[in-house]
Amino acid sequence: MKIIIGNDHAGVEFKNTIMKHLEEQGHEVVNVGTDTLDSVDYPDIAKSVAEKVLAEEGNLGIIICGTGIGISIAANKVEGIRAALCHNEFTARMARLHNNANIVALGARVIGDELGKAIVDTFITTEFEGGRHARRVGKIEDCGCGC
Ligand code: RB5
Repeated sequence: MKIIIGNDHAGVEFKNTIMKHLEEQGHEVVNVGTDTLDSVDYPDIAKSVAEKVLAEEGNLGIIICGTGIGISIAANKVEGIRAALCHNEFTARMARLHNNANIVALGARVIGDELGKAIVDTFITTEFEGGRHARRVGKIEDCGCGC
């Protein structure tokens, strides 16, 4: 399982902190985010992460922008992506257990380093529960607009 991480200019330092934390645990992390403070467009980063997450079964993604909002909206436009904007460990756990989220979105200007580490740890170690949740996630995949 690879962890694909991507960020815009608002999330460079935060991304580095999260990446270091995951690498210290032995995870393989692929960085497709920007490493400079020059302004970039978060939809481009969302797309790069989404493509790499979908490339291999079991991959998970982490996307970071200032609030996590724009980049999660963008990632969810990609078919097969379920990106969850998480602000705490509870939502990170539920995003995996009930929604089978394959990307967690974080706001670098919203949450601190330690909370960010705890959220990603929870996200990558929690498995999808399946069962009734599989039916519901299947309905999202069939037609996101409900038609
Ligand atoms: C960039 O300034 C900021 O708009 C972006 O990082 C993000 O917060 C958008 O949702």
